[in-house]
Parts: sequence; structure tokens; C-alpha cells
Amino acid sequence: MRTETAPVVRLVDYRPSDFLIDRVELDVRLHPSETRIKAILSIRPNPAGRADAPLILDGDELRLLDLAVDGTALPPDAFAATPQNLTLFDPPRAPFRLTIETVVDPSANTKLMGLYRSGGVYCTQCEAEGFRRITYFLDRPDVLSVYTTRIEAEAGEAPVLLGNGNPVAAGAIPGTSRHFAVWEDPHPKPAYLFAIVGGRLDRVAEPYRTADGRDAEIAVYVEPGKSERAAFALDALRRSMRWDERVFGRNYDLDVFNVVAVSDFNMGAMENKGLNIFNDKYVLASPQTATDTDYANIEAIIAHEYFHNWTGNRITCRDWFQLCLKEGLTVFRDQEFSADERSRAVQRIGDVRTLRARQFPEDAGPLSHPVRPTEYREINNFYTATVYEKGAEIIRMLKSHIGAADFARGMNLYFERCDGTAATVEEFLACFAEASGRDLSHFARWYAQAGTPRVVVSGTYDAGGRTYRLDLAQSTAPTPGQPLKEPVVIPVALGLVAEDGGRLDAHSPRVRDDGVFVLDRASDSILFSDVASRPVPSVFRGLSAPVRVALDLSDADLLTLLRHDTDPFNRWQAGQSLATRLLVRLAGVSRPDGAEAEGLAQALLAFLRGNAEADPAFAAQVLSLPSEAEIAQEIAADVDPDAIHRARKAVRAHVGGALRGELMRLRDALASSAPYSPDAASAGRRSLRNMALELIAAGDSGAGAGLVAAQYRDADNMTDRLAALAVNAGLPPSAEREALFQDFYDRYRAEPLVLDKWFAIQAAMPEDGTLERVLRLMNDPAFSITNPNRVRSLVGSFALNNATQFHRADGRGYAFLADMVVALDGTNPQVAARLLTAFGTWRTMSAERRQGAEAALRRVASKPDLSPDVSDIVHRSLG
Ligand code: ARG
Ligand code: ZN
Repeated sequence: MRTETAPVVRLVDYRPSDFLIDRVELDVRLHPSETRIKAILSIRPNPAGRADAPLILDGDELRLLDLAVDGTALPPDAFAATPQNLTLFDPPRAPFRLTIETVVDPSANTKLMGLYRSGGVYCTQCEAEGFRRITYFLDRPDVLSVYTTRIEAEAGEAPVLLGNGNPVAAGAIPGTSRHFAVWEDPHPKPAYLFAIVGGRLDRVAEPYRTADGRDAEIAVYVEPGKSERAAFALDALRRSMRWDERVFGRNYDLDVFNVVAVSDFNMGAMENKGLNIFNDKYVLASPQTATDTDYANIEAIIAHEYFHNWTGNRITCRDWFQLCLKEGLTVFRDQEFSADERSRAVQRIGDVRTLRARQFPEDAGPLSHPVRPTEYREINNFYTATVYEKGAEIIRMLKSHIGAADFARGMNLYFERCDGTAATVEEFLACFAEASGRDLSHFARWYAQAGTPRVVVSGTYDAGGRTYRLDLAQSTAPTPGQPLKEPVVIPVALGLVAEDGGRLDAHSPRVRDDGVFVLDRASDSILFSDVASRPVPSVFRGLSAPVRVALDLSDADLLTLLRHDTDPFNRWQAGQSLATRLLVRLAGVSRPDGAEAEGLAQALLAFLRGNAEADPAFAAQVLSLPSEAEIAQEIAADVDPDAIHRARKAVRAHVGGALRGELMRLRDALASSAPYSPDAASAGRRSLRNMALELIAAGDSGAGAGLVAAQYRDADNMTDRLAALAVNAGLPPSAEREALFQDFYDRYRAEPLVLDKWFAIQAAMPEDGTLERVLRLMNDPAFSITNPNRVRSLVGSFALNNATQFHRADGRGYAFLADMVVALDGTNPQVAARLLTAFGTWRTMSAERRQGAEAALRRVASKPDLSPDVSDIVHRSLG
């Protein structure tokens, strides 16, 4: 049953559950189309709830087979069962056992929520509201229960049976071809953390002894025959566990920790207690099939899901409005892990790029919402960049606001005080207020106020008085439902850089010893004394707050920062600012002259000569121009993606030509004959070599084509081969260009995850024929509309990574996406709704594009029987 408009759920309406479920005993008999689930729930009235309330359990597309209270069947007038609810009108007012038997069809479950089959493997996804698709339950995160799960299946079909917690029994069922396993999870948990897996899977495992002396076994399960591709994930898991012991003092708390890779999965991965289930894209890696980026993502997501064991599982969320409590904090933790394991500066640049590419546009458009939303119609639509990425930025600011020592004390207090509970943002912040002795009520506004603050900064030097004054002013534009904005607490990490790069011993009592100034009102200024010469201000080092910074530095001052800033992030930022200014200007003229990029080219050349070999990964970031989407954001209104593309192409061509000699030299100097290793240093060398290839080809497509062909042919790893293929996609159309695509397809036809890269590169080609190409690729046997990875690679890449073609002036890109959303909504509403968010920037586009986008959105909105997921996004997008 589908509803056009789901009811609004509001944070202010929260009240505790009327009943609690202390124990859950499940018996799941797996069957491809008729899986039976018997649940025995130990229920009691909640002292904090209403005394005379009925018991209303959640369901979703469920069929009830049997029902009993304390072993006795209920008279028909004592209860009501529908697919979405099971109601006991007058349940016992003392503890009782409710037995429920339901039946579900895992093979028909194309929504990939609840129990489903992926490539013959039974698996579950219960966050946020999937458990109710398995049995009737109080499916809310503040109902915590201890689970025992018995799983039964055909031994041939599902030799591996996994559940949450520890394995306690297993065996054959005599006289049948079936077998069973029993799992017991001693840690009380909400239903969204429940999981089971059954199937044919290979396993890699190793013993792990925790810092506090527990002997555990950690394991990764993958499709048969792929176990050598699981080794890196297992290694990342071990490193994550050590890091959490060392940095946050957190030990693992069960005898086993299992990770399972499945090929059909709506999101990245899921932190089910002791049984993390992953999209196989974030587990499987070999040098021949995975890129350096894949390795880094696997490491980060393995860490993320493992870190949830404390920030999410041991301490969970009271309600879904508190989602950032676990997600923002856990993203912060995985970012810090990656920074420690790799390069902190390069990691931060990457995280900021993601924030600006995904969260800033979201916060500037119709889907903008606070990090802690106050209402929702469909919670699955709130697993957003704002909740995750901006949520992580808030934690980062909290740490810099109160200092590392008080932050660590606050975390420990949180772990101690809230362990075993379903907590709120207020309870979290109270721990840091207590640990630091500060009032954090103003800081808390970050959770409630949507929109990206803009901070205008200007500096004035007084040579006579040897003083320097920095004026800062913040403002936030209105967002849906929030017309008026208040100032927020903004930690500004800053420093002054002498024009000649020398030290400047400037002081201000307003700036802390660690270089942080806190801007907590609409405007403020800092007066520095003893400033010997005119300084260049370096503000928001490391992007110390998720804000847009408006600081009008001359090109010369930006060059000073690019050369001399002690903060690597701001060195990179200076290069980006220089390029952005140029690109925005050139996007405003009809025939952009690449020669205007000569200044930028010379700056980059000088930078490369001084830095490239010492830190290639960083240098690759400096060389990489702001994306078309970033330039569009800067322009913000009446955007013409074609003009942006032309400008960027002209600049890249000029830079590539001017740097050609140095780039060729670097490609040789950084080449390696050692066997492939995914470590950060090796990956950094490859990233600079491949950035060089891209620029050389941009400057001279003939020379580029030769280098591409050679690198493609000789590559001994996927990173280099795919980089060649990506540059190939940007070459002028030719038979050779298509032949390379064909060769790639022929080599990897048996590797769906590799073909995803092939789909994605072609869908992102910035040329007229791409829409036709995408339509053609949808008929390729390797494409499947029911597999979320395939859909994201082909359709998602077109909508999100191909500005000129998705935003075609004739509206055909929009119409195509609308068609896809409507087609997908019938099978997988979550994936459909996610694709639809690509329309998020439609109001910033040029007039004719706005028209096309609006027509496409209205067409989606007019379809009968839309899912709540798509209905919610389409109405907010038009709102
Ligand atoms: N908790 C998971 C993670 O961030 C994400 C699960 C989201 N699932 C969903 N259906 N919205 O690791
Ligand atoms: Zn998460």
C-alpha cells in the first residue's frame, strides 16, 4: 500500500513508548519466497508511558499467520492486524510474552529493506524502519532489547548462517536437508541494528585480542571465489579496532565481528551489531579491479561502521531526529582515522571538497534542513550530506572550540554516562559543557539552524601604528521554514603571513595561543599590534568552520599564501581561490581566452618545482582545478553550465600547455617499477602522475592520446588503467577512443564493479551524444535496473557528474532523469528518491533550464501512487 503524502513526524511530538520489549526470541526459517518468522517478545508497560494505552506494533507489507499472548490465542475482537500495524486493544498491564508469526517473500523484496535476497544470499537491512518488514514490532530506536536469533535454512542453499552477537549453537536438522544456527546478542539494541545473513560465502578471518584482553575472531565474508579480494578490508578492520582503542579508549565487546559483502545494497554499509553488512563495492579490492580511491573508501567505510559499535550501537539515538548524534560523530571519527593512517592535509582537502560538492549545495537549495531536523515525512530522505558531513564539521568545531583535552574528557564522560542508552544531542553536549565548564547553548545553534553561514573578512594595515585590523561579519541566508537567522559560534583558525614569507610576530589578546579566534556575534574585529610589515591574512585554516569565506585578496596575496602559508590547507585554498576567480570571470564571456590563465599557470609551475616530489598527493590536489559544480555554486544564479565548461576547458588547455615540460618530467620521475601497493604514498605518486596526464591531454589532445594508449596498455593496476580511460573519454571523438572503451569492456565483462566505472565515465562525458550513449548503455547486458550500484554508476553519474548534459538547455537531460525516477519508484523508492535529489540546484540555473527542470519535476509530482520517498523529495524540490 502506498500513500501519496505520508504524515509529518515532528520532534516536538516525541514521547516515550507506552511499552518496552526486554527480550526478543526469533526463529527465522529461510525460504526463497516464503520465509517464516516466529517472534516471541517479552513485553511490559513502560513506567514512563501511558497506563491505559493500546499496544500498536509497526509493520510494513506484513502478513500475520499466528498470534498468542502468554501462549494463548487471542479472540478476534482483541486485536487488529493490517500489513502496517498489529494492535492489541487492551494488552496485559503486567509483563507478558507475545508470540507473532509472520511470513515474507525475500525474493520479491526489491526495495532492499527488511529481509531480501542478493545474488542468492539472504540478508537484511533494517535501518531506519526495515525490521517492521520482518515482524511486527515497536520499531523505534528507543526500544532496546536483548535478542536471541535462531536461523534455519537448506544446508545447500545457505551453508553460512550469521546473526548478531555470539554464535551459541549450530547443527543439522536430522532427517532433513536443513540446518540451523543460534546467535545471542547480550547487548540491548534497537531493532534497526538487527541483522541476519544466510548463503554461500567464502571467509577470511584472523584472531584479534582487544587492548582490555578479550579474544575475538574478526572475519570478512564475500562471494565464493573472491576471498583474496577481502584481505584489504580485513586489514582495515584490524587497524580501525586498534585506532579506536588508542585514540578513543574503545574496546570491542563481543567474541566475533563479522563483515559481509553483498552486491545489492541501497547505501554504503550498515553497522548491525557484530554483523556489519556492506555494499560489496566497499569491501572487495584487488590491484586489478580496485582503484586507489576504492581502497581509501573501503578503509574509511570499514572504519566508519566499526566505530558505530560505540557511537551508534552502545550509545544509540532516542529518535531519528537525533541521527546526527551517531552519524556526524562517526563520520568525524572515520575522517580522523583516515587522517592518522594517511596524510592529514590531503585528507582534509578531500573532506572539504566533499562538503562543498554535496553539503553546501544541499544547504543552499530547496532540500536544506538543519543537522538535527525538526520534522520529516520519510526518514530515509534524511541520510544526507547535511546530517553526515555538516554533522561531522560540528564535532570538529566543538573540538577546536573547547580544545582537544576537554573534548577528550567530554567523549569519555559521554561513553560512561550514556552507555546502553538511546541518547539525544542535548545529552551529548551536556557532557562537553560539564567537561569544559563552558556554556554550550549558543554553540548548539549549529544543530538547529540550516544554511551555510557566509563570513565576510577584510583587513586594514596601519604602517604608522604597526597595527593590523581584521573585520569579520557573518550572515546566513534564509532557508525553507527559517526566514530569520541568528549568529552562530564560528571558530576561526587564523594567522598572518608576511609578504616575503618571513615570520610575523603579531599579537592580539582576542586570538588564543592555538591561533583560534571565536566569532560568536554578527560582526567583530581583531586588532593585532606590533605588526612589522603589511601581512597577508590566512583565515579559516583547515576550514575551521563549515562556512563560505568572502575575503578579497589580490592575486599577489593569494600567491604569497600559496607559496608561504604554514597551513597546507590554506596553501591549497589559495590556489583554488586564484583559479575560481579566473574561472568565474571567464564563464561570463562567450569566447574565453585561455591565455588569461598564464598567471595561474606560472604560479602552479613554481609550486610544482618546489613541492611536487616532496608531497605528490598534495601537489595533485593543488593542480586540480575547482569542479564545474564549484564554479556554478560561486556564480549561484542563472547558471549556464556550457559557459562554465568552456571556461574550464580553456584554462585547463592553457595550463596543460604551459606546464607540459614539467608535467612530462614529473611523470617520469614519479613512475615506479615496484609492484602495486595501495598505501597513501604510492597512491599519491599515482595521483600526481595521472593529474599530469589529464593536463597534458587537455593542452594537446594528440600527445594526450599517445600517452593514454600507452598507459592504458601497460598499466599493471586499475588506478592507472582507469585514469587512462577517463582521460580517453575527454579526447575528441574518434574510432580509437571508442576502441579503448570496447577493450575495457571486453577485459572486464565478468566484473560488475569494474564495469560500474566504465558506465560512470561514459555517463559523465561532456558532449552532445552522451544522453544517447546512456540510453544505449541501459540496454547493455551488464546493466541492471534493479541493482543500485549499476543505477548509480550510469544514471547517477549522468545526473551528478555531467553538468552540461544533465542540464541540457533543451530539457532532455531532466526529462530522462524524471523518467528514470518514475520507473525506479515502483521497485526501489529509496534509490529513486536519491536520484531525484540531483534536481536540487534547479533554481540556480538559467531561465530556459529552470523551465525544463520544473516541467520534469511537475511530471514526477503528477504521477499517481508515488512512494512517500519520492513524493517527499519532489514536493520539497518544488516548494
Ligand atoms: N547507518 C548506516 C551508515 O551510515 C547507513 C544506513 C542508512 N540506511 C538507510 N536506509 N537510510 O553507516
Ligand atoms: Zn554511519
